Amino acid sequence: MMVEVRFLEEEFRLEPLTGKKLNVIIVEKEYEEPWWLLERGVKELKPQRSPIKKPSLAFCEFLKKMVSEYSPDFATEELGMRSRDKFYKENPVAKVFEESKVPFYPVDMDEKAKSYLASTLQERENFKNSLIEEISKLHSQKVNAETQKKIDYLTAYAQYLDEEIEEKEREISFDVREKWIVKGILDYANSITKDTVTCIHISSPSHVEGLTSLLKTLNAWNVTPLKVEKKVQFSEASTGKIPNSIEIEVKPTVKREILVTKIPRILIFLDTDEPASPFDICQSYDAGFDVIIPYSKVDAEMAKRIVQDAMFSRGEKNVKYTCYFLGGSDFGKVKAILETVKKTMFPPFESPVIVDPRGAYTTAAAMVALTEEGWGKVAKEEVKKRKVVVLAGTGPVGRAAAILYAKLGCDVYLTSRSLERAESVAKEVSEEAKTEIKGVKASSPEEVYEVVKDAHIILATGAAGVMLMPKTVVEKLKGVKVVADVNAVPPPGVEGLKPKFNLKEFAPSIYGIGALAVGQLKNRVEREILSAARTAGKGIFDYNYAFTAAQKLLREKTFPTIKMRYS
Ligand SMILES: NC(=O)c1ccc[n+]([C@@H]2O[C@H](COP(=O)([O-])OP(=O)(O)OC[C@H]3O[C@@H](n4cnc5c(N)ncnc54)[C@H](OP(=O)(O)O)[C@@H]3O)[C@@H](O)[C@H]2O)c1
Repeated sequence: MMVEVRFLEEEFRLEPLTGKKLNVIIVEKEYEEPWWLLERGVKELKPQRSPIKKPSLAFCEFLKKMVSEYSPDFATEELGMRSRDKFYKENPVAKVFEESKVPFYPVDMDEKAKSYLASTLQERENFKNSLIEEISKLHSQKVNAETQKKIDYLTAYAQYLDEEIEEKEREISFDVREKWIVKGILDYANSITKDTVTCIHISSPSHVEGLTSLLKTLNAWNVTPLKVEKKVQFSEASTGKIPNSIEIEVKPTVKREILVTKIPRILIFLDTDEPASPFDICQSYDAGFDVIIPYSKVDAEMAKRIVQDAMFSRGEKNVKYTCYFLGGSDFGKVKAILETVKKTMFPPFESPVIVDPRGAYTTAAAMVALTEEGWGKVAKEEVKKRKVVVLAGTGPVGRAAAILYAKLGCDVYLTSRSLERAESVAKEVSEEAKTEIKGVKASSPEEVYEVVKDAHIILATGAAGVMLMPKTVVEKLKGVKVVADVNAVPPPGVEGLKPKFNLKEFAPSIYGIGALAVGQLKNRVEREILSAARTAGKGIFDYNYAFTAAQKLLREKTFPTIKMRYS
């Protein structure tokens, strides 16, 4: 085995175990073994080892049973702050192994490494202490406004240092120290010339999980973390009296980390397209899902079978840890899948459902939130009752944007190259928005001009690489207008409106928001929805939720950043 140790935690490396089967039983002891890196406070007040930091007789008996049952080749325990002498002489656990003739070793961070790491932190600690002394000195003087200001700044700096030191100390106490403990176990295992080696390691409760996963990563053959529960019964009736009879029972249970500490969040991804969108899958992992199961070419019938099969598998309590994501370019199919999924689930077997066909809902939500905010900035009024034109609004993005603006109380027009399509889609979305949205034919620049000339907000939602509003139309426009384009593939949907524009006046009183600005907010909205659905338990996360999330994200942008200086 090759272990590289250079005393700097970043360069500490452990090599996986090869050619040997290592069986480690990690027994959690009844208390945390004291260990610290920094000498805090006054030297004379150095913390003493508490007399209750000691294994109980019942725990020692339990260990004896473990030894006779498992015949370990060796045993280990973290040394902590004890000397090696005390580790062997004043440790009841050492006696158990000695009597059982099992080699017993202390394992812990190497002293040189520890002093190196402690010295760098101690410098910070000393400096923080000198700041605290200075603050106390200033307090003892007559405090005027100038001194108070200095005190405030020094306090903020000392708080910052304190947090930094604690964070670093935590990292060293767990990440770095656990590597040293594992190194000790592996070294002793390697010194034994047997193919299968068994070790019993006695650990503080807070390190059981870290050591278990580290040993598993290093190919240990079998790692069993054992939690020893202790029941204590005593004979005294009133509290505060020393009991004359005490009964202790220790009961081991295998710690199953996955079930106890973390229930995996599973996303079932139902895509009408093939393959299922890698974009949405990557976003979902980034939002914290543990497992994503993608299905492609999904239709309503298939969705029903999948949901029926999945919904009972995790029981009533854990069904909320399963989410569904409905995606794909077939807007109609996605809507049908949503209806089927809603009908298939029933209380209490309900899970959150995210709906975002080919990113259309999150894109529309971002576009509407940005233009709504933009209109407020340039026209200094609400969008309510204003005229909104959604150019080429017959696709998924245009439909969702039209519905969202209609729900905001705007006068919405949706265009298509065909009057028939414009009218039929307008009828469909009007039903969903529960208010009238008008369908208009606009297939030539003249027709486009006719419908947009008195509009306040114009959304270009045409297919990729299609220009809907040429310069000749833009140049003729009068009055304040906010125009957004979601097409990022050249040529743009609106001539002269560049993808990265974010409320830029690109023609007199015409303010443009480009596809990149929309796309950036869209990505944040999608992540926000995924995170919310991951922990929501149930609910439908569609364009309505996406829009509220987009508005919230835009508001967050305006939270003030405070920067002050003292010198
Ligand atoms: N920025 C982002 O993050 C993001 C995310 C998703 C989508 N997008 C973009 O958003 C836009 C809309 O997406 P979508 O899926 O809703 O679009 P889509 O369904 O592909 O197209 C929308 C409409 O464009 C019209 N159209 C198609 N070809 C045309 C042409 N040659 N001339 C004029 N009109 C034409 C069609 O309407 P009619 O046939 O009725 O005229 C169609 O219904 C696309 O540009 C897409 O790339 C951006």
